[in-house]
Amino acid sequence: MLGFIGNQFRKPSGLVGRVVSRIMVKGNSHEYDRLIPELDIKKNDRLLEIGYGHGMGVERIASYYDCNVSGIDFSELMFREASKRNRKHIQNKRVELYFGNFLTSELAQNQYDKVFCLNVIYFWDELDKPFSRIKSILKDGGLLCMYMAHRDLLNKVKFTKDGIFNKYDIAEVVDKLRFAGFKEISYNLENSGYIIKCRRSL
Ligand SMILES: C[S@@+](CC[C@H](N)C(=O)[O-])C[C@H]1O[C@@H](n2cnc3c(N)ncnc32)[C@H](O)[C@@H]1O
Repeated sequence: MLGFIGNQFRKPSGLVGRVVSRIMVKGNSHEYDRLIPELDIKKNDRLLEIGYGHGMGVERIASYYDCNVSGIDFSELMFREASKRNRKHIQNKRVELYFGNFLTSELAQNQYDKVFCLNVIYFWDELDKPFSRIKSILKDGGLLCMYMAHRDLLNKVKFTKDGIFNKYDIAEVVDKLRFAGFKEISYNLENSGYIIKCRRSL
């Protein structure tokens, strides 16, 4: 049962997925409030969110900033929900949402100024491939910004105990970012969660 719930956070589907999505909208609103200003969004920036889920983050950005924001998510339910939430912005061509697995997608290289993700890193069983893919789609000097809960917090939550969640230590994430070739790596911890920032080197 706990494995079933953990899997719903990895890839929401069906009725339970809808409930999980509502929980995430409420539970992760503050994390989006924390992360979005860190993106330092400029006019005409091109952004990509990996694992947009319910689409709340994309919606906030499109509502308050003059930029283009895309997203990719491999849950069909989340694709439908996020598309509904962002209908107006999609019609205005400010938002583009893709349905697919980021790890196997064919996103064009060197196209984004900023890439971000919240609560997605746990579902990557290793970090070399995702980080190198992120680096390849960023423009030179482009920014990667991620939110990740502290492993102590994850360890307190029952449904993360099933092997679906990878509970990375911050030092390991920083090492892997460095190995992938990112520069200016920094992070800060607040309320048991990290905001991690780095740049694709010029
Ligand atoms: C825990 S939810 C987080 C949703 C939202 N970012 C938040 O913090 O509220 C993880 C999301 O990432 C998506 N996801 C996980 N791995 C993915 C992958 N490899 N490619 C695309 N989407 C992925 C899931 O479908 C899900 O919507």
